[in-house]
Amino acid sequence: MEELKTRSFIQSVRGMHDILPDKIAGYNAIENWARKAFSLYGYQEIRIPVLESVELFERAIGQTTDIVEKEMFTLKDRGERTLCLRPEGTAGVVRAFLENGLETKYGLVKLFYIGSMFRAERPQKGRLREFVQIGAEYFGNDAPSADVEMIDVVTNILQTSGIPLEIHLNSIGCPECRPKYLQTLLQFLKSRTADLCENCQKRMEKNPLRALDCKEDISKLQDAPQSEQHLCKNCLEHYEQVKKLLSSIGNPFKTDPHLVRGLDYYTRTVFEIYPSGQIGSQDALAAGGRYDTLVEDLGGNKTPAVGFALGVERILNFHGNLMEHRESPGKVFVVSVGSIAIEKSFQILNDLRKNGIAAQGVLNNQSLKSQMRLADRIEAKFCVIVGENEIKENVVTLRDLQNKSQEIVSMNSLADVLKNDKKVPVLKMF
Ligand code: HAM
Repeated sequence: MEELKTRSFIQSVRGMHDILPDKIAGYNAIENWARKAFSLYGYQEIRIPVLESVELFERAIGQTTDIVEKEMFTLKDRGERTLCLRPEGTAGVVRAFLENGLETKYGLVKLFYIGSMFRAERPQKGRLREFVQIGAEYFGNDAPSADVEMIDVVTNILQTSGIPLEIHLNSIGCPECRPKYLQTLLQFLKSRTADLCENCQKRMEKNPLRALDCKEDISKLQDAPQSEQHLCKNCLEHYEQVKKLLSSIGNPFKTDPHLVRGLDYYTRTVFEIYPSGQIGSQDALAAGGRYDTLVEDLGGNKTPAVGFALGVERILNFHGNLMEHRESPGKVFVVSVGSIAIEKSFQILNDLRKNGIAAQGVLNNQSLKSQMRLADRIEAKFCVIVGENEIKENVVTLRDLQNKSQEIVSMNSLADVLKNDKKVPVLKMF
C-alpha cells in the first residue's frame, strides 16, 4: 500500500495576507492615481521606517486610544528598547520632519507616503492587521484652505476609482476651547455611566472624547453635547471658512457633530470619507484632520499641520473583483525549437529586452507545443519561433497569437518590426 505523505506548510501569521499577482494591478492603479494627484498638488514622497519606538505612538496618538491600548504590535529589540510596527503614518512623518530639520530645508513642507501599517485588531472584512495606507501631511499652514486642499486631494484620488463619496466633517476645537467642552461632555457621560461599555467607563475621566468614537456606545449617546457648540471664536471662524471653501469647489459634505476620530492628536477640522450610504466603522475609505499641536508635543516648534490617510484595501473591497486582472508579464514569447536554438534564442531575448520590449522564454527543451501553450497562458501577444531552419537563414518566424497570422522576419530587424509595425509597448531601461 502506498504510504500517505502528509505535508505541512508554515502558515502566514493570523491576519497577515499575501497579495498575489492578480491583485497587484488594483494596488498599482490606486497608487498611480495617488501619485498623479500628489504631483498636481505639490506633495513630495517620503519613506519612513516600519519600525518605530513605542513611545512615539504613545505620545502622538494618546495612551487611552484603542490603537495604543490594545492594537499595537510591540516587540523588544536586542537591547531593552520597546519597538512597534507602525500603526499609522502621521507620527512617523512628524518624527522625520523634526529629526531631519525639514522645516528649515524646504519652505513649504508637503509630504506623502505609501506603505503598510499594522494594527492587531480582530481580523474581519475591511479590518486587516496589515493594510496599505496612502497618506499626506501638510506642515506650516493653519489656513482653512489647507484643510480643504487636503480633503480635495483625497477626494480626487477616491473619485478616480469611481466610488460615489460622502464626506463627513466636524471641528473639535483647540487647546483653548476644548477643555470646556470636555468638562461638559464628562458631566453628560457621568449622568449616563450605565450606558457606557466597561472600557469607556474606565477611561472616561482621562479621555471623555473616546466614548463618542466607541462603536458600542455611540448609538446610545446621540444627545451628547456637540463640540461645534463649544468652539471659541477663532475655531468657529476657521470651521465656517472650511465649510465655505469646500462648498465653493463643489465638494458636498455632511457635518457630523459627534465625529471625533480615534487618535488624540487632532485639533479643529476632522473628516472621514465613506462610500455614499455606507457609514460603518469598517467603511471609512479615508480619514484625517488638522493637528496643530502635535509637532510641538513631539519636541518641535509650534507648527500647524493637517493630513489624511486612505485605506487601499477598503477601496479594493468596494470594487470587488473589478480590478482583478493579471498583468501580462511579457508581451513577446520566444520559442526555441531543439537544443540547437537555445543559444540564439537567448541572444534574441536579450536583444528584445535591451530594445525595451518585454520578452520571455523558457529555453529548456520543452516541445514546440508546450512552449506555445505557455505563451498562451501568459497572454503573450506574439511568439518568436527559432528553429534550425530559421538559424540557417538568419530569420525568425513571428507569429501573431491574436489573429493567428505569421510571417518571416530577419533576426536583425525583429525588434524594429515589433516596435514599429506591431506596436508592442516599449519600456526603455538601459
Ligand atoms: P485612521 O482613520 O486610523 O487615520 O486610518 C485611515 C484609513 O486607513 C481608514 O479610513 C481606513 O481606510 C484605513 N484603515 C485603518 N485601519 C484599517 C484596518 N485595520 N484595515 C484596513 N484599513 C484600515 C490615520 O491613520 C491617520 N494617520 C490619518 C491622518 C493622517 N490624519 C492626519 N494625517
